[in-house]
Amino acid sequence: MAPDAGETPRDQHVMPQTNRVKIFDTTLRDGEQSPGATMTHEEKLEIAQLLDEMGVDIIEAGFPIASEGDFKAVSEIAKVTRNASICGLARANFKDIDRCWDAVRHAKRPRIHTFIGTSPLHRAIPNLDMDQMAERIHETVTHARNLCEDVQWSPMDATRTEHDYLCRVVEIAIKAGATTINIPDTVGYTAPRESAALIAMLLERVPGADEITFATHCHNDLGMATANSLAAVEAGARQIECTINGLGERAGNTALEEVVMAIKVRHDIMPYKTGIDTTKIMNISRRVATVSGFPVQFNKAIVGKNAFAHESGIHQDGMLKNSETFEIMRPQDVGLNDTNLVMGKHSGRAALRAKLKDLGFELADNQLNDVFVRFKDLADRKKEVWDDDLIALVTQNDASQDRLRLKHLRVICGTDGPQKADIVLEIDGQERSVTATGDGPVDATFNAVKALFPHGATLQVYQVAAVTEGTDAQATVSVRLEEQGHIATGQSADTDTVVASAKAYINAINRLIVRREKSAPGADTKTISYRDAG
Ligand code: KIV
Ligand code: ZN
Repeated sequence: MAPDAGETPRDQHVMPQTNRVKIFDTTLRDGEQSPGATMTHEEKLEIAQLLDEMGVDIIEAGFPIASEGDFKAVSEIAKVTRNASICGLARANFKDIDRCWDAVRHAKRPRIHTFIGTSPLHRAIPNLDMDQMAERIHETVTHARNLCEDVQWSPMDATRTEHDYLCRVVEIAIKAGATTINIPDTVGYTAPRESAALIAMLLERVPGADEITFATHCHNDLGMATANSLAAVEAGARQIECTINGLGERAGNTALEEVVMAIKVRHDIMPYKTGIDTTKIMNISRRVATVSGFPVQFNKAIVGKNAFAHESGIHQDGMLKNSETFEIMRPQDVGLNDTNLVMGKHSGRAALRAKLKDLGFELADNQLNDVFVRFKDLADRKKEVWDDDLIALVTQNDASQDRLRLKHLRVICGTDGPQKADIVLEIDGQERSVTATGDGPVDATFNAVKALFPHGATLQVYQVAAVTEGTDAQATVSVRLEEQGHIATGQSADTDTVVASAKAYINAINRLIVRREKSAPGADTKTISYRDAG
């Protein structure tokens, strides 16, 4: 139960003067910590750059003490980011905070984010009583503030913390120099009215609360993260913590695209401003889906494939007469092109470059050459190449470092199984072949790969989606593998679903090999989670 779930009427507390809401993106920290969403160093840098370009105010780039890799990613993002503040996460101890500062100190605008679990359940983890925890908060926030001018403090599981104690610790953190107080709904338990009441209660009761920024950080376990974040803003929070596509552990975090578009579209009832260039939303959503290996569900608000599709006759008729009949925002507002112009096998390199630029992809010459070869190959097999086909081509993972490559695949299917797959793989430069059977063409193919490259990984996810309509549509396949705690996701697209499956499976194995090598003794291993907080 949430303690003291009563309400504080809005007019009894001081509301902030500004209607500007800061967007704090934690895709690279809370999002990346969701099992299976691990990104490579280069991918993190790319996403950070896209976040900066779209106008995110604060990028939480990682948890520097967690691993060497996290530290390097946060410090490099801190060095190269032009506009956004760069924030790192630290538990409530000096070692974490020092490591965090070492990583973010290079930023134009560095921020340390330190936190401790304050609810009864979380207080039991470090075995501190209320007074001892209060003392720890005072010491650690003071220490962080001595290093950095911009300090954010979070009482983890705030929505299940006793109100009197929450007021007490928030006041201590403010007095120790915290400039932002974040109120996390760590387990996605709160509801909009309660979320608003909590911020209102803090603004009313805590001395000095009107001099700092309150942030809201919601998880989506009950599907209320967006509503809870917006309710907190209505009560006076001026920073929303969120991730692209709502990426994050369990049901995820508040989705950036949802809160930003809600504020934009319903400005009449939510008169706030963000600094986000909403036309960049689709591109970054696609990139995050690709590099995290978490595809966006078709009917996801704002960025789902069907979010702007109007298929039923009545809808189409209405749309042709006046697009506002069924559309509350224009596709262009989120970076979706009006046209879904078809390219064909006679389209040249310049047309491809222009089309990709239109779709938000500016490729270097060598990348364009690679995509052009694959585009020609696809155009030979498929009459029309649509925007989504091109996006699927461009967003396929870079295979230059792969140890396993698919050279040839022939599958025999039919009603009288078992199905049979002949496969040739190049493994570390050497071609090897095998024939395997299985319960269906995909099973036979995966068995053949495993016969040539034995491994102990288990298949966690196998997902197929059609990129466009029609029987010659490309299929995108996602495969997630798990081996001794390492998770890797592979993706691929092809007009042949079994070929796409084979490539996605091989891609996942290649990524798993990288993970394995990284965590060999002496190598970089991620052992600490912020959930271990004490
Ligand atoms: O959900 C949570 O409580 C967090 C904190 C570390 C802010 O992510
Ligand atoms: Zn969180």
